Amino acid sequence: MTRHFLRDDDLSPAEQAEVLDLAAAMKADRWGRRPLEGPQTVAVIFDKSSTRTRVSFAVGVADLGGSPLIISTASSQLGGKETPADTARVLERMVAAIVWRTYAQSGLEEMAAGTRVPVVNALSDDFHPCQLLADLLTIREHKGELAGLTVAFVGDGADNMVHSYLLACTTAGMHVRVGFPEAYAPSEAVVADARRIAEGTGGSVVLTHDPEAAVAGADVVVTDTWVSMGREDEKAVRIEALSGYQVTEALMAAAKDDAVFLHCLPADRGYEVAPEVIDGPRSVIWDEAENRLHAQKALLAWLLERA
Ligand code: CP
Ligand code: NVA
Repeated sequence: MTRHFLRDDDLSPAEQAEVLDLAAAMKADRWGRRPLEGPQTVAVIFDKSSTRTRVSFAVGVADLGGSPLIISTASSQLGGKETPADTARVLERMVAAIVWRTYAQSGLEEMAAGTRVPVVNALSDDFHPCQLLADLLTIREHKGELAGLTVAFVGDGADNMVHSYLLACTTAGMHVRVGFPEAYAPSEAVVADARRIAEGTGGSVVLTHDPEAAVAGADVVVTDTWVSMGREDEKAVRIEALSGYQVTEALMAAAKDDAVFLHCLPADRGYEVAPEVIDGPRSVIWDEAENRLHAQKALLAWLLERA
């Protein structure tokens, strides 16, 4: 049966570890595997802007011997005249996989239900699972074994990155803490799913409105923009509500001395993170950005093997 990657828990703990191992192997030998030789085409569709996702999928598909077809929704029928299901039926006749950055998670589900080629979520309003594969690869490189590590997210708790941290990190057996203001809480359904996953992996989930309690003794500190794509109209009210949740040097002092800082980028220095932190010695953001390439190549190779 075709496997899709629409949310982080579409991979079991063992499968997630397998993909991360493959990513590390592919990073060490960048052009060693070419499952898309032919070349086969991978459609990469964008309803929203992107730098990292666009470039890493384009370069990654080429590295795998394939041909990336980057589609901007505005210049396609998708989102206007044509449903995700019909688009999927057309694309599956010509491409090996479909990668889609969109708004509603339900669109991805509809697309996946309508096709026999793998569908990959390249960011939705609810999740950013490809980013989390890159983040976990980065954390592994800097900290070793993932299970048992504590990751603290501080900022917009209703963010797609938070939902992905909750699911992906508990899948890896990590402890996840989220520090957020009351108005921006994570989805209760996702928190419940993460707690259920954690029961099986030895991880845990802690939610708090106190940023220092979130970060205390953490191995990894992360944040994300306060103004996600599609929420630009809410900028002023969000900045006010989130102003006590900036990752500053003072906040980082509560984490372990060897804690690393991650941010999926793009970043708004001075809002969610102080420049001294994101540009400081504990920041691993450039490794994290590079790892999008390696993690997604591994994911595509893994999914295609099962398609
Ligand atoms: N982190 C991330 O997904 O970046 P882009 O929006 O540039 O793709
Ligand atoms: N939460 C951000 C992530 C960007 C990669 C957004 O959705 O805009």
